[in-house]
Order: sequence, then C-alpha cells, then structure tokens
Amino acid sequence: MKKLLYGLYTIIIIGILICIVNSDIFNDENKESIAAGEKIYNKQCLICHGETGKGEGKNAGTAINNQNYLNSVSNKDIFNSVKYGREGTGMPSYEKRMSNEDLNNVVAFIRNWQSEEIEFDVPQTIAGDVVNGEKLYNVYCINCHGEAGAGKLKMGTALSNPQYLKYTADKQIWIATAYGREGTRMAPSLKGLDGVRQLTEDEITDIVSYIRTIKQPEKIQNNYLEP
Ligand code: HEC
Ligand code: HEC
Repeated sequence: MKKLLYGLYTIIIIGILICIVNSDIFNDENKESIAAGEKIYNKQCLICHGETGKGEGKNAGTAINNQNYLNSVSNKDIFNSVKYGREGTGMPSYEKRMSNEDLNNVVAFIRNWQSEEIEFDVPQTIAGDVVNGEKLYNVYCINCHGEAGAGKLKMGTALSNPQYLKYTADKQIWIATAYGREGTRMAPSLKGLDGVRQLTEDEITDIVSYIRTIKQPEKIQNNYLEP
C-alpha cells in the first residue's frame, strides 16, 4: 500500500515538474515571438499605427492597441487583417512581404498590448432590418464613415471594404458599433453607455445588417492617408 502511495506521489511530482518546465518553454517562446514581432512592427507598422499602437503615427493608421479592439478579435483575425490588408485604404496587404512566422510574431506583439479581459453582451443572432439600418447609418455614422461606408479622410475607417467584411464577423461589427473603441473618435453607440448616439440593441443590429449588404464604391476615399 505504502509503495503504491509513493509511486503515486512520484508520478504527481514528475507531472508538476513537467508542467513547470513546459510553461517556461512556452513563455520563452512567446517572449521571443513578441521581441521578433516588435522589430517588424517598428520597421513596417509604426509609421502609421504609432509607437504604442495608438494610431498616432505620422501616416495615422487606426488604434490597434485599445482594449475593446483586442478583446473583440482573435489572433487569427489580426493575422488576416495584416496578411490581406484593406484594399483602397491606407492598410497594405503583407501577404507577399511577410512569412507566416513574421505575421505570427507581429500578432504576438500586438496581443501583448492586451491588459484586460472584457466580456461583451452581444445578441445571439444578428439579423435586422436592412432598410431601417441604412436610415440609421445615414443619420449616425455617415459623417465619419462616409457614404455607403466608403470611409472619410481623417474621420472614420472604410466599412464597405471587401477584406474588412470578409474577415470580420457580424458580432465583431456589432461590438465595435455598440462599445466603440476607447481612446479614439469611435464612441460607444449602445444606450446606457457613455456615448451621444444611445441606440437600442435592435437599432445596432439593423445597422450591422445594413453594413453587411454594402459594396465598396468604385472610388473609395483613402480615409487616413493624405491624398
Ligand atoms: C465621430 C466619428 C465617428 C462616428 C460618428 C462613428 N464612427 Fe465608427 N469609427 C470611427 C473611427 C475614427 C474608427 C476607428 C477607430 C480606431 O482608431 O480604431 C471607427 C471604427 C468603427 C468600426 C471598426 C472598424 C474596423 O476597422 O475595425 C466600426 C464597425 C464602426 N466604427 C461602426 C460605426 C457605426 C455603425 C457608426 C454609427 C452608428 C459609427 N461607427 C459612427 C469614427 C466614427
Ligand atoms: C500606410 C499606413 C499603414 C501601414 C504601414 C500599416 N497600416 Fe494597418 N491600418 C492602416 C489603416 C488606415 C487601417 C484602417 C483601414 C480601414 O479599415 O479603413 C489599418 C488597419 C489595421 C488593422 C485592423 C484594425 C481594426 O480596427 O480592425 C490591423 C490589425 C493593422 N492595421 C495592423 C497593421 C500591422 C501589423 C502593420 C505592419 C505590418 C500595419 N498595420 C501597417 C494603416 C497602415
């Protein structure tokens, strides 16, 4: 009986040791990946997204360091945003310039800015009234995001962009609209939150349903870069 117990203890202790060693290896790998990603970021992305990702770069890109953004995207989503870029906007595609490893490293660096865990309340299904959504969009969003989501110089991003729509789920558009992006001009829209729009959940669902249907206009206004 005693022998059996000792055997059991040994197995447990070895198990714990393996876990500790493995987690260290994982941490080291992650640290290396973040460091490699930082180098790439400083060379390729800083000019637009800024030193701390706040979007304060010379060629102002968007803020990609804010907690609402980081909590609404997976690593795969960030990966796709960088790999495929956003045609017709300031965001280039890095598909031909960066290996998957480079892309993963830069994603690890961006993820490293996440300091909070946020749970968003989002409706289970997002299928609303497109016509009403368009009306609301034209009242509340067009000033910054432009006609039919074309984007507006220095005001708002392009929402009709094919890569954006392809790699962004309805739920993510809903979260960005409802909760906004703290520290940017994109204030929350959901009733009860600290924003001027005070829209209901259903109204936001209608707007997202409308955004889902729009096509990128022929001539998109390059929203963030100077023409
Ligand atoms: C005062 C200007 C302004 C208004 C009004 C505004 N937005 Fe925005 N919006 C922005 C800016 C600026 C960003 C980019 C923020 C950043 O730097 O990350 C943004 C980001 C977004 C994003 C995320 C896009 C992305 O690339 O991930 C969505 C979705 C969005 N807005 C939807 C809306 C909707 C829908 C409305 C109307 C209900 C609206 N916005 C009203 C300025 C605005
Ligand atoms: C020439 C300026 C420029 C450069 C260089 C650039 N970006 Fe962007 N980036 C933008 C703009 C502008 C957008 C928003 C486009 C839109 O939707 O209208 C954007 C969007 C993004 C998004 C999506 C953010 C969101 O809110 O959905 C990510 C992630 C991103 N960039 C990461 C990167 C990374 C990583 C690099 C470097 C490898 C990089 N960008 C290089 C200008 C730039």
